[in-house]
Amino acid sequence: MTHDAAGTVTLAHGAQMPRIGLGTWPMDDRESERVIADAIAGGYRLIDTAENYGNEKGVGAGVRASGVDRGDLFITTKFNREWHSVAGVSEAFQRSAERLGVDYIDLLLVHWPNTDQDRYVEAWAGLVALLDSGSARAIGVSNFKPAHLARIIEATSVTPDVNQVQLSPLVARREIREFDAAHGIVTQSWSPIGQGNDLLRSPEVLAAAEREGCTPAQAVLAWHLAHGLSVVPKSSDPVRLRENLAAAGIRLSPETMAALDGMDGREAPIDSDEFGH
Ligand SMILES: NC(=O)c1ccc[n+]([C@@H]2O[C@H](COP(=O)([O-])OP(=O)(O)OC[C@H]3O[C@@H](n4cnc5c(N)ncnc54)[C@H](OP(=O)(O)O)[C@@H]3O)[C@@H](O)[C@H]2O)c1
Repeated sequence: MTHDAAGTVTLAHGAQMPRIGLGTWPMDDRESERVIADAIAGGYRLIDTAENYGNEKGVGAGVRASGVDRGDLFITTKFNREWHSVAGVSEAFQRSAERLGVDYIDLLLVHWPNTDQDRYVEAWAGLVALLDSGSARAIGVSNFKPAHLARIIEATSVTPDVNQVQLSPLVARREIREFDAAHGIVTQSWSPIGQGNDLLRSPEVLAAAEREGCTPAQAVLAWHLAHGLSVVPKSSDPVRLRENLAAAGIRLSPETMAALDGMDGREAPIDSDEFGH
């Protein structure tokens, strides 16, 4: 993987992914259509959705309403536990592609490992087949721990392009980041600004924003980017959409990086051996 100054990263299987994208949970179809068209007009090129969010139709409508060429956009979606087999992933792809109104998906993810049913290796094999056929330009996983990643790589010799995990200064997932980096996997942060929790109101983040002359959300997003992470913050608000995208231009001081690094461990990660769908 290589990073460039324009804010894209070249993934292991060659696709170019913008480093900042738009999260779409919990928008419904109607809200997605409006927000996504606005977000794309404002410069977003990566849109993150999922079968489970129930908004892929709205995302597709927003993409078409934007008027931007499909080839200039990067659409990520994810499938649920019922599709964890080679044939199931093929069907999950067809259904998502139909709802989105697209003929290929830029990045398709196993949403959760769902270790209780223990079929994520089959799901991964299904994604490898979709990559080979060109239906997916990049393939990846979400909420995978190093043990889950090691198992799918061992079984198929194919490494995911992306591992999307819950990650913020409060839950910095160092072990996952290290494993991903060692294997050329891009770590992408979900709930990067804390999903409305106290992160953006914490003394450390408020002090960082003051010191760096930016907003609290921008300080946190710039922290992710400085660590080589990709981020998919969600906003439905035009001002906050612009604010979040503009974090790409912010370089934090070592003092701020150290202060935000020091917040790790204050939130317990969701355990993907216990939770999934
Ligand atoms: N793979 C997975 O299992 C998984 C799980 C959860 C989420 N995700 C993905 O990750 C995306 C992001 O995560 P998230 O939505 O949980 O949390 P998040 O992006 O950390 O936070 C979103 C919240 O922050 C607010 N916000 C956005 N920009 C802001 C700003 N500049 N200043 C202050 N508040 C701001 C939003 O409100 P407004 O809309 O009012 O601005 C919203 O309430 C989701 O939308 C989804 O696409 C993936």
